[in-house]
Amino acid sequence: MSAPAVTGWPHLHRPGAVGSPVLLMLHGTGGDEQGVVALADALDPAAGVLAPRGRVQEQGMNRWFRRLAEGVFDVDDVVARAGELAGFLEAAREHYGLAGRPVVAVGFSNGANIGLATAALHPEALDRVVAFSGMYPFGDRDAGAERLTGTEVLLLNGRADPMAPLDSAIRLAQTLRRRGAQVDQRLREGGHGITAEELADARAWLAARA
Ligand code: MLT
Repeated sequence: MSAPAVTGWPHLHRPGAVGSPVLLMLHGTGGDEQGVVALADALDPAAGVLAPRGRVQEQGMNRWFRRLAEGVFDVDDVVARAGELAGFLEAAREHYGLAGRPVVAVGFSNGANIGLATAALHPEALDRVVAFSGMYPFGDRDAGAERLTGTEVLLLNGRADPMAPLDSAIRLAQTLRRRGAQVDQRLREGGHGITAEELADARAWLAARA
């Protein structure tokens, strides 16, 4: 992909400190690239930030892929959009000269789901994900066939999350592990969202890989 693949996609880029990791920040439903920067700052204020905007619209809200109902995804669209995001990321690495810097996707909710789908289908483009309130994004389908040896994922979920149900979060972890990924799953009480403890867990997980 070429420069237009980057410049034609609304996004925010912040270079960050020399040699720092780059956080691919993926907002939730109704969010955008500006709003998600606060999460990046809470995790690592020195990191580079690459924050594209989800290109699907649902009643005026930005999303990463279409859904038929809450928690019922258009899986063909998930697959297609994951491919687009992988393409954007590869083009952005070149456009912004990110070669050699680790890139970690950090997503919340719908953003977690597209980050996980992209890592599951395109491990050559993305191999680290921090997923807040994410779930298994492929409905009743398998999650691709590539081995995910070298992929590392932190899954942070509430046990009583109606939008990212526990059985789906557990299936996600099992599926990624079966394919060879290193999965750290932390389950807490409560529902959809990001707790202070999860932020601390994510900070520590990122710092251990910086
Ligand atoms: C999704 O659509 O990805 C999940 O249901 C969560 C959300 O609404 O963002």
